[in-house]
Amino acid sequence: MAKKSKIVYVCESCGNEHVKWVGKCSECGTFGRIKEVNLGTAPSKKSSSGGWVGNDDNEIKSANEINKDKKEVVRINTNNGELNRVLGGGLTKGSMVLIGGDPGVGKSTLLIQVMSSISQLQNEKALYVTGEESLQQVSDRGSRLNLNIDELKFLSETSVENIIYQIEKHSMTVVVIDSIQTIVTDSSDSVAGSPSQLRDATAKLTHYAKKKGVSILLIGHVTKEGTIAGPKILEHMVDTVLSFEGEKGSRYRMLRAIKNRFGQVNELGVFAMTDTGLKEVKNPSSLFISSESTEASGSAIMVLKDGSRPLLFEVQALVNESFLEAPMLVPIGLNYQRIRMILAVLQKHAGIKTYNQDIYVNVVGGMQVPSTETSSDLAVCFAVLSSLEDNPISKKIASFGELSLSGEVRPVPNGEERIKEAEKHGFDYIIVPRSNTNEKLIKNSKIKILPVTNIIGAIEELRGITQNN
Ligand code: TYD
Ligand code: MG
Repeated sequence: MAKKSKIVYVCESCGNEHVKWVGKCSECGTFGRIKEVNLGTAPSKKSSSGGWVGNDDNEIKSANEINKDKKEVVRINTNNGELNRVLGGGLTKGSMVLIGGDPGVGKSTLLIQVMSSISQLQNEKALYVTGEESLQQVSDRGSRLNLNIDELKFLSETSVENIIYQIEKHSMTVVVIDSIQTIVTDSSDSVAGSPSQLRDATAKLTHYAKKKGVSILLIGHVTKEGTIAGPKILEHMVDTVLSFEGEKGSRYRMLRAIKNRFGQVNELGVFAMTDTGLKEVKNPSSLFISSESTEASGSAIMVLKDGSRPLLFEVQALVNESFLEAPMLVPIGLNYQRIRMILAVLQKHAGIKTYNQDIYVNVVGGMQVPSTETSSDLAVCFAVLSSLEDNPISKKIASFGELSLSGEVRPVPNGEERIKEAEKHGFDYIIVPRSNTNEKLIKNSKIKILPVTNIIGAIEELRGITQNN
C-alpha cells in the first residue's frame, strides 16, 4: 500500500492539531492562525484492525546485518590541510559541523576560502548562506581574497525552510550557514538566536543533512563566557564542534576539535591571519617558543601531544617571595590543581620549598594545555625551579614526563614521536621518562636523550647539563 503523506492543521497560537482546516481554533479560540503542516509520509503506527504493524526500517538487527548495510564514510577534501586534519581527514559527507568563535576571529574568512576550493570539486555543489552580511559583502570578501568563486553559489536568507528548499532545488551538496544565530524556523515563534530557535533550526537542518547526505557547516558566535552561544544545546545535535580562537592582538588563530564523531578531539590546526586571508601554519612548534635568544630564568621547553601531533611549547614560571598572608598561585593555560600537586611533589620528594612564594605559571602563545596532557609536569617543575633559583635553563633542553605523587617520572604516550619533534627543531638534550625510550633510540638519535625515573634524578640531569654549558 502506498504511503500517503500526512497533513495536519496546527494552530500557531497554542499548537493544537486539527484534522481539517478550521477558521477558529477549538482549543484556544484564536481566529485565522491555523496553518497547514505536511508531516510527510511517516507510516501510521496502527493497522486498520488496530494491531501494530511496525515499520520495515526499524527491525531488530544483528551486528552482521548492520555491517552489511554499513555506509562508507566519504570525505571531501577541503584543500586546507589544517582543517582536513582537525576534521579527522576531510569533511565527512552528510555531517553537521558547528564552528564557534568570537566575532572577528575569522570564521567567515576561513569558510569562504574553504568553500571556494570545494566549489571547484567536480562532484560538489557549494552554497554559502548568509544571514548577517549582504550578498555583496560576502562576494566582495571572496574577490578581495583573490579566490575563485565563479562556481560558488550565494544565498541571503534567514528562513530554514527556504534554505532547505533552495538546497534541494539546486541539489547543493556542501552548505555554509553564516550564522546559526540569524536563522529562524517557522516551527518556533521565538526570536532569532533564542535557545528554542537555535535548537529547532539546527534540528531541522540536521535531519535534512542526514537524510540527503548534504554536509552543513554552521557558524556560531561565542558569548563572553566562551561557550558557543545558544550553547551546549547544539553540541549534541551536531557531529563535530570546532572552536576557532585567537589571542587579542595576535595574528595567529587556532582551530580545535572539541567534539568529533569522525576524528580525534583536541586536534589543533594553526592559521595566521594575513592581508590575503588565513594561511595555514604547517609547522607551528616554533610559534609557541618565545623568540628572545637570551636565556631567562623560569623558562622551560616541553613537548606536548596535541591531538595527533607532538608540538613544542614554552612554559614560564615566576616565583617570587610573597608578602601576602596567603601566597598567590596563578596558572595561565594550565590546570590549577595539577600545578598544586607538582609543587607538593617538589617539596616532599626533592626538598624544594615554595610555600612562601607567589607563583605564576604561563604557557607562551595563549595555549590551553588540556588537563589530560600530564606530560607537561616535568617542564613545569624545571621552570619553577629555575625561577626560584634564578638559574636560566639552556634553550637547547626540552623535556616531557608525568609526575606521580610518589615523585616518580612516569611515561606518557608517544614518547618516540615527541623525542623526534625536539630533534627536528634542533634541541641538543631531552629529559624523558625512562620507559619512553630504549637503548636503540638513544644510540640512533642525534639529540642526547637523558632518561630519568624520578624527580631527583631529573633535577640532577638538568643541573648537570646546565653546568656543562
Ligand atoms: P571575519 O572572517 O569577518 O570574522 P568572523 O566571521 O569570525 O566574525 O574576519 C574578521 C577580521 O579579519 C576582520 O577584523 C578583518 C580581518 N581580516 C584580515 O585581517 N585579512 C583578511 O584577508 C580578511 C578577509 C579579514
Ligand atoms: Mg562573520
